[in-house]
Amino acid sequence: MFQKNAWYVACTPDEIDGKPLGRKICDEQIVFYRGPGGKPVALDDYCPHRGAPLSLGHMKGENLVCGYHGLEMGGDGKTVAMPSQRVGGFPSVRVYPVEERYGFIWVWPGEREKADPSLIHHLAWAEDPEYACGGGLYHFECNYLLLVDNLMDLSHEAYLHPNSIGQPEILHVDPTSHMEEGSAVTSRFMNNIMAPPLYRAALRGHNLADDVPVDRWQICHFYLPSHVLLDVGVAHAGHGGFEADPKYKAGGVVWDFITPETETSTWYFWGMARNFCPDDKELTEQITKRFSVVFNEDREMLERQQKNLERTRGALLNLNIDSGGVYARRMIEQAIAEERQSERQVA
Ligand code: FES
Ligand SMILES: [Fe+2]
Repeated sequence: MFQKNAWYVACTPDEIDGKPLGRKICDEQIVFYRGPGGKPVALDDYCPHRGAPLSLGHMKGENLVCGYHGLEMGGDGKTVAMPSQRVGGFPSVRVYPVEERYGFIWVWPGEREKADPSLIHHLAWAEDPEYACGGGLYHFECNYLLLVDNLMDLSHEAYLHPNSIGQPEILHVDPTSHMEEGSAVTSRFMNNIMAPPLYRAALRGHNLADDVPVDRWQICHFYLPSHVLLDVGVAHAGHGGFEADPKYKAGGVVWDFITPETETSTWYFWGMARNFCPDDKELTEQITKRFSVVFNEDREMLERQQKNLERTRGALLNLNIDSGGVYARRMIEQAIAEERQSERQVA
């Protein structure tokens, strides 16, 4: 189950560059493309003629042409033209609210009249020239909640990512979790330790010594419907850790936009926004490449975990380390319950 009345990241602008993109979001099969005025359009991926996927078609100016018999679809879901046919009586296809913001295309898979663009999560770093951003997209064959759990409990780094961001000291410090206005937060602070390999590289990228003790932080914020934003990094020890002057720090915000595809598959948009050496494109590429190795490790674990859970339908244990994920799941459950209740009231 997922919240439908919410903004999800659907794709990145390059994915609809001159061509349509078919993507399932929250069980809705949607075609995305650039329509009138270059603005993104999201429609039911269904041709009103014979039901072909419109995403297999091509662009003709601002209209989408069905790849089967040439029906031309407009951005309002109405057929514009078709060879040798009058199209006035053709049924319309569903139009989904869609917005382009912060370098992403966002879609609202629920009730159209409730879509308010001001509800899109504000990402200050995406518009700040002091930040460099780099990331990618993964498809995970697992329920989106497993990814939420994974990102709200970073103790797994010690075991799953020992050659990049993991280190045993993570296990020596308990996380603390709490609820804030609109967010579940879980944090861990590790002081006076040596940085793990990926953070050593980041320190070097910032022209900082990588062979001296550091203070390390992991602050995970969960926001509805399923966004996790991580403040992570290291600073030379004794300068204030997370609060240290930027000249001693190497870190940033890791974004995780977790978009359910179906109950058992997920689109995972991830990346890092860092506020040091923002013009160093090579460093951006290096960090992105190293993180992609990390997420491949997560993918294998989560996909196998999904299969096991399908096989056993076993109950999950909630331990101390899961407290952040428990808060996040509670927020999701409550949002879904409220959505169901308002549907019942309308019916
Ligand atoms: S199915 Fe699209 S034009 Fe025939
Ligand atoms: Fe991980």
